[in-house]
Amino acid sequence: MLRIAIQKSGRLSEQSLALLAESNIEFGGHGRALLAQSKNFPLEILYLRDDDIPQCVYDGVADIGIVGEDVLQEKNYALNIVERLGMGKCRMSLAIPKSVVYNDLKWFNGKKIATSYPRVLGNFLQSNNIAAEIHEISGSVEISTTIGLADAIFDIVSSGSTLVSNGLKEVETVLHSEAVMVSQKEGLTEDKQLIINDLLFRLRAVQKGRQYKYILLNVPTKNVDKIIDVIPGSKSPTVVPLAQEGWSSVHSVLPENDFWKIIDQLKKLDAQGILVMPIEKMIL
Ligand code: PRP
Ligand code: ZN
Repeated sequence: MLRIAIQKSGRLSEQSLALLAESNIEFGGHGRALLAQSKNFPLEILYLRDDDIPQCVYDGVADIGIVGEDVLQEKNYALNIVERLGMGKCRMSLAIPKSVVYNDLKWFNGKKIATSYPRVLGNFLQSNNIAAEIHEISGSVEISTTIGLADAIFDIVSSGSTLVSNGLKEVETVLHSEAVMVSQKEGLTEDKQLIINDLLFRLRAVQKGRQYKYILLNVPTKNVDKIIDVIPGSKSPTVVPLAQEGWSSVHSVLPENDFWKIIDQLKKLDAQGILVMPIEKMIL
């Protein structure tokens, strides 16, 4: 049995659970239980505050964890990054009240900044020779300026809606972050390592599937070669003749983001009946 630490509630919580669910690793409802065992995979979830995940993995209370690089940098435990998960992307930024005029970093000299990330902020201020006071609070950082606790805040920005609804504007981005899977540097048994490998195999298949779309279209057979140049697929597309003479059906995969870029080329080659479908899993 492998134990994975996951954020109990917050931005990464739902995304982490969705990744496991799409990998067909099933759990009972995420009720009050802090520990939940999968019914069909040797995995147990430990729900924690994200700030506690690095230490828990470091101490071996959990074998692996899913956590943002932001928290990882702040906590600074020597952990192994097993996999970058490409989700939970956000940045860590300095923000000040919307109405305040801002020119450059020097503005922060002599100011008071509220944050839950004193270490990351401290390093940033020091390397930029800014002398500001750091006020550490563990939550609700975004209301600090409104209630007169600080002149500015340093926090995570994802969609930016938290800042907007608190009358703040982002003035400096300090670092970018995404969710990663971490493990202890050493000390995992061979059994556990095998489970991690199985888990990674599934997660990668899901992540790859998310990045690609399955595309089907009909095209005059004389244009098939040119269409193949546009949608080469992972190996080479499937081409099937249609019942109607002179026409073929082409099936391929393409990166999701490329579709809108190539649609004009497909149309110029007389492609018709274009279908784009999600891929649940992809193993190359
Ligand atoms: C962060 C941060 C903000 C929010 C920003 O919280 O503290 O509250 O996300 O997101 P937005 O730009 O999309 O509004 P997090 O999920 O890390 O939870 P926590 O602060 O409780 O750990
Ligand atoms: Zn957090």
